[in-house]
Amino acid sequence: MLTDYSEIRKIHKKKFSEQKRAWCQFFSDEALATFMASFIKLNKEENQTIRILDAGAGDAILAYAAVQRCLDLGYKNIEVCLYEIDKDLIKLIDSNFKFILKKLSKAKTRLKYHIFNKDFLNFDPQQINSFDIAIINPPFKKTRSSKQDTVAQNEVLQSCEQKINKTSLYTNHYVDFMSLCLDYLNHSGQLISITPRSFTSGAYFKNFRNKLLKESNLEAMHLFSSRKSIFKSNSIYQENIICKFIKGVKQNSLISLSCSADMDFNKSFTQKKLPNKLLIKSFVNDNFIFIPENNAQAKAIKELQKFEDGFDNLALSINTGPVVPFRAKGLLSKVKHKNSIPLLGLNNVEMLAVNWSEYNKNDWAILPNTQEKLKLVKKSSIVLLRRFAPKDSPKRIIAAVINPEDFNSDFLGIENHLNLISKNDREFTKYQAYGLAAFLNSSLVDNYFRALSGSTQINKNELLTLRLPSLKQLSQLGKKLLKKDEGFNQNIIDEFLGCL
Ligand SMILES: C[S@@+](CC[C@H](N)C(=O)[O-])C[C@H]1O[C@@H](n2cnc3c(N)ncnc32)[C@H](O)[C@@H]1O
Repeated sequence: MLTDYSEIRKIHKKKFSEQKRAWCQFFSDEALATFMASFIKLNKEENQTIRILDAGAGDAILAYAAVQRCLDLGYKNIEVCLYEIDKDLIKLIDSNFKFILKKLSKAKTRLKYHIFNKDFLNFDPQQINSFDIAIINPPFKKTRSSKQDTVAQNEVLQSCEQKINKTSLYTNHYVDFMSLCLDYLNHSGQLISITPRSFTSGAYFKNFRNKLLKESNLEAMHLFSSRKSIFKSNSIYQENIICKFIKGVKQNSLISLSCSADMDFNKSFTQKKLPNKLLIKSFVNDNFIFIPENNAQAKAIKELQKFEDGFDNLALSINTGPVVPFRAKGLLSKVKHKNSIPLLGLNNVEMLAVNWSEYNKNDWAILPNTQEKLKLVKKSSIVLLRRFAPKDSPKRIIAAVINPEDFNSDFLGIENHLNLISKNDREFTKYQAYGLAAFLNSSLVDNYFRALSGSTQINKNELLTLRLPSLKQLSQLGKKLLKKDEGFNQNIIDEFLGCL
């Protein structure tokens, strides 16, 4: 048996040069490789050949673990294809596989391997529909801007996908790898990947998610609850997730969701099966994958379904604040003058309240007589929402209401770090605005967002998925809160929302 990794784990000791960084050579450790391989399940006859793909192979640790797993499951005919762009690693992969062959020489096992020292994303039509297993830890780096991406994607997707000889359709290499692996798998072939979590919700990954969820069954996901990087050589913080997809098979009604603190999979390991209806949600030509890390998050996804309204049918629009501070240099000042127009930014938005004062020397204002150079917003009961939450902040969403009585000027500057929520037909009443801001500040919505996205950014496309109480209910909530003399806090908001 191959269980000891030490022989093959002779990762080249070369200096971590810029090129290595560009290729994202962050290697999986042995425990991770074994754990990922444990997701492999096969229902072919034992004498049939199992074809394994390791794309971005590094020193071949994942292929090695997958071979071991297939042997454990009783399969004796195995063929492995390894793609690695770095020619320095090719010798290592070769010697590792020679070592495996030697180890297996006495067993009645037939193992073949093919190493491709080339860019995996160079499409090879011969590999289409040919693998039983793809096991990958792909490089993650941006490939192009989102705008180019959408144009390029649409063009390529419209043409016959199989004719292209370079597959780089999405904004990040890791999703290109996942997508091509899916193409290379045969019917009911399985893709086991460790990647950043970003593809499960971000707008840039919409087309990829649609393809993935249309063409495969999401069978299992594994999360790491520790916020530290799980790749020792990678100081960059990434929230990583292991997923298993099965190609060409209808989505299971239950999806397995497991979690461990880190790579010690025996410690604090939890696992449960959750309904696909809870984890995969379609919303206006998009599909989102929710990953509730705890019961409160799972409950929030479910509870929000009881509300029947949304931004669309309540005629609410979400816009980014129009003032970009670095483009408005020379027009802004911390010294306030008579008739200065307040500029509201992240720091002015607290739970329910906008705090800006002409006496606060940190608050910004727009210089008098320059307002025509900037797009200002007419003062009304608008809801403001921070677009970014500070890392490790206890709250993901912080929303406040502009109280028109607090400001002398008729117009306000709103920074692009804030989102504005306003009503399309007529202005919010004060109660509606406070009700909506309170709802957005609730623990329910916070938990929903944590399950939806690993990012601390609050994106418009994610906000639009929210179900909302009716305007009448929001108004009741706002009224109740404003009547409360001792002010607002999280408990009061949650308690009042629970009574709706
Ligand atoms: C994150 S490492 C993972 C290595 C190995 N699979 C593991 O889990 O330890 C990604 C690997 O992909 C290789 N790589 C990067 N871009 C590639 C490309 N376009 N085609 C093939 N290999 C690539 C890198 O050199 C690196 O070895």
